[in-house]
Amino acid sequence: MPEVHNPQLGREHSYPYEHREEERDWHWGMVINTNRCINCNTCSFACKSTWTSGEGEEYMWWMNVETEPYGGYPMGWDMRLLDDLGPDETIFEAAEDGEQVRGYVAAKEEWEYPALGDDQSHGEYPAGDVVESDPENEQYHDMWQFYLPRLCNHCKNPACLAACPRQAIYKREEDGIVLLDQERCRGYRRCVKSCPYHKPMYNPETGISEKPVGCFPRIEDGNVPRCVSSCIGKTRLHGNINRGPDAGHPNDVSSAADGRSPINYLVKSDEKVALPLYPQFGTRPQVFYMPPYHVPPEFLTQMFTPNVDEKRNDWPGSTYEESVKIVQQRARDPSHHVLGILQLFGATTRLIETYRVKENRVKGWDRKGKKVVDMPIEEPMEVREGEQWTNQ
Ligand code: SF4
Ligand code: F3S
Repeated sequence: MPEVHNPQLGREHSYPYEHREEERDWHWGMVINTNRCINCNTCSFACKSTWTSGEGEEYMWWMNVETEPYGGYPMGWDMRLLDDLGPDETIFEAAEDGEQVRGYVAAKEEWEYPALGDDQSHGEYPAGDVVESDPENEQYHDMWQFYLPRLCNHCKNPACLAACPRQAIYKREEDGIVLLDQERCRGYRRCVKSCPYHKPMYNPETGISEKPVGCFPRIEDGNVPRCVSSCIGKTRLHGNINRGPDAGHPNDVSSAADGRSPINYLVKSDEKVALPLYPQFGTRPQVFYMPPYHVPPEFLTQMFTPNVDEKRNDWPGSTYEESVKIVQQRARDPSHHVLGILQLFGATTRLIETYRVKENRVKGWDRKGKKVVDMPIEEPMEVREGEQWTNQ
């Protein structure tokens, strides 16, 4: 079985499919700031009404929002799989005889409650009137919950693609979006079993499977996906995750820009502030999350890091838990540069290829080099001179 280097885990592992991931100039990617998500599910309904409104698609939520730690669609999807993996074992290495990938098929009833655990918090409600934070550690709350938007990650090592015996799933050359060819599909459902994020879904009416499409027609027109443009909390930024500081690029993008894409900065710069969801599965997911800063880091360490003892140099702390604390702190109190990029979230429906933060302004350009955003980072505020009005 071919070996691949997985930079999210910092090591090689088997992956049952040959591919040329690192050479791609442009790759679909997304950053979600969980601190801004209010569980309104506008994204979920925007996705559903765009892509899955037909017969047999009733239960399909390609985009859903879960309340952590108790939510999950299908029920308990993450814990069930994590329990089956050995320490430091990806779903490819844990595959059973005759299979390419370790996975499981969720039962019908596990798909019946998309909002299970909604708004349910972790921790005991205290006896007094006020919920107080832990006096020993005031940054984190004793009682907590947070909202986790979930969608297809358009993985760089897609499990769905590797598992399909019909080669009905492919990764597009131009943007890395993972698509399922419904003409080729024969309904074997290995993709449904293999995706650790449970995003390919079987349509009992047609007898074939379907999976999220990354809003590819919108991407082709230079627009962001509908879950991004519809988000009222401005939680998301979408773009080219592969456009790093040294990326050569075939398109003529404005020379005024900083060079890399804004999401590349948030995920891969020294100021790493967004993390992948369960990188230990090994699929190299390309949706990255700014972690909630009020949640105890030990929970987030399990969810957003490789979750092994061994530590890598490109993480900011001396342990993964320490790293998560640092990333949480950066999300709580962002640098001026990150604050500038945060203004780009939800600022335009156009896809921002590159950007520049300079003094109090942030600007963004599309793939053709056309400026699509130009805005202040901090709004000017005027304080009226003179006596303040009082109620006395
Ligand atoms: Fe495939 Fe699942 Fe990865 Fe999407 S999240 S590319 S469906 S393995
Ligand atoms: Fe392949 Fe999944 Fe169809 S495994 S044949 S794409 S149901």
